[in-house]
Amino acid sequence: MNMTVEKTKGLKGEITVPGDKSISHRALMFASIAEGDTRIKGLLKGEDNMATLKAFRQMGIVIEELGEDVVVHGKGLHGLKEPEDFIDAGNSGTTIRLITGLLSGQSFFSTVTGDQYLRKRPMKRVIEPLTQMGARIFGRDGGNKAPLAIVGTKLKGISYNSPIASAQVKSAVLLAGLYANGVTTLTEPILSRDHTERMLAYFGAKVERKGSTVSIAGGQRLVARDIEVPGDISSAAFFIVNALITEDSDLLIKNVGINPTRTGIIDILEQMGGNLKIENKCEVSGEPVGDIRVKSSKLKGIVIKGDLIPRAIDELPIVGAAAAYAEGVTTIADAKELRVKETDRIATLASELRAMGIEVKELEDGCVIVGGKPKGGVRLKSHGDHRIAMTMTVAASGTDGITTIEDVECIDTSFPGFKELRKKVSVQ
Ligand code: S3P
Repeated sequence: MNMTVEKTKGLKGEITVPGDKSISHRALMFASIAEGDTRIKGLLKGEDNMATLKAFRQMGIVIEELGEDVVVHGKGLHGLKEPEDFIDAGNSGTTIRLITGLLSGQSFFSTVTGDQYLRKRPMKRVIEPLTQMGARIFGRDGGNKAPLAIVGTKLKGISYNSPIASAQVKSAVLLAGLYANGVTTLTEPILSRDHTERMLAYFGAKVERKGSTVSIAGGQRLVARDIEVPGDISSAAFFIVNALITEDSDLLIKNVGINPTRTGIIDILEQMGGNLKIENKCEVSGEPVGDIRVKSSKLKGIVIKGDLIPRAIDELPIVGAAAAYAEGVTTIADAKELRVKETDRIATLASELRAMGIEVKELEDGCVIVGGKPKGGVRLKSHGDHRIAMTMTVAASGTDGITTIEDVECIDTSFPGFKELRKKVSVQ
């Protein structure tokens, strides 16, 4: 399916964006292994999260959809049953990596796979520490790629120094740690998103944290508790940048998760000169939440690197669109992880921005984007990557002419209703 985009004259009004994808995955997983019923409000019902939901149904967990809400009837740490068939994680790296950690310590055999994109992505990063814990996991490419076969076994706690700042690696190890003998400790080079640690604590588990080191003792019970999922800042980011680069915009995005491990995008856009305000800050289900007000702004190029990168990893494509409209040069560095996301996002972003006449130099770990006047009336590709599809929609919205974006079905993995929501707030 293709989408056409025309020049937007302003983004105005008040919106909410769908629930946070990372928190939604965790809510389904932890509620399934908690004792008792968890009602989840605001769960993201995108394809990625539905893959997680289906996986737990395959393992015998009853999950009811009551209107917008979902009720998970948790069966405790040892209540999962052997799935009869492959678990299909679809496009979702979070589903496959976290579930692999969880499955390692079960008393049954399981297999996990995913779509053509996921089957190309590296799994060694989770299999390596899990194997050190005693896990028995087999996969293609010397154990690096899905499909994966997991022979559940008894695990032991380890102390692991992760070479990358990855919440998926950390969460897989912590989930396995719940089933391991003794204490499991993980240190990462820079703190990645900490939704797992927060949700474990919210469900009553004791999790110790110091800087970017986290420890958990095995065998702890999780106690079911209702969860409200805030709006996803990664989804809000597309509307934030769209409003910033469009004249006459004044947009209020309500109820967005503003966990400090996720707000790198706010810091980046403020440094670029963006007029952003966070209002009504509060805490909901153990996560910080607020409303984000954004007005049109003149942006300038900056350098983005170091500690900011893990705090904005999923937003770097949309930062690329902001950079295309900024005055001067924007450099993104230390972001090699972008090469192993849903697509190689350094390559896919560079190729599509270039198709709009923007000068982009690829670096091994990032890119250099020369701001200017992006050209519309062109055909752009999503490459099957939801964030590239939405980034190019925003980039095209400031140009003259009608731009076509090809293969936009992938947007449903994280942001069902994206097109309709844009239409609702855009003055054409
Ligand atoms: C996620 C962690 C990040 C992020 C992904 C979601 C999570 O991946 O890019 O979209 O929910 O834990 P990495 O752990 O690979 O950095």
